[in-house]
Amino acid sequence: PARITYPVARVANVGELKPNEPVPISYPDPDSPGVVMKLGTRVAGGVGPDGDIVAFSTMCPHKGFPLFFRADDRSLNCPGHYSRFDCEKGGLQIWGQATANLAQFRLAIAANGDISAIGVDELIYGRISNVL
Ligand code: FES
Repeated sequence: PARITYPVARVANVGELKPNEPVPISYPDPDSPGVVMKLGTRVAGGVGPDGDIVAFSTMCPHKGFPLFFRADDRSLNCPGHYSRFDCEKGGLQIWGQATANLAQFRLAIAANGDISAIGVDELIYGRISNVL
């Protein structure tokens, strides 16, 4: 498979994030909305001092509806046809009509707490590759 070089983009600082309050971002370009969030629970792939900061696309992989966050089970949810994605499990689809997991943005963290998006796992909705 082709290897893609992703931009590095600062999306937030650790000090700005509160548990279960996703912050809107765009990555890898302005047409790709997403969120960065602190889960309050250490997860695989999480960054930061608590290993709990992750970021996802908020375009549903089914037909691109904008997803909303539910703090009670840390899921991203689709108002279109009710697909649900687990933010603690890398965007794993847990219900619904989508046929793919949610695209997750890979993150890196600097010594000053700045969080940067550095890549994407899984395809962003509507794209044949994640960098156009
Ligand atoms: Fe999200 Fe259809 S657009 S389930």
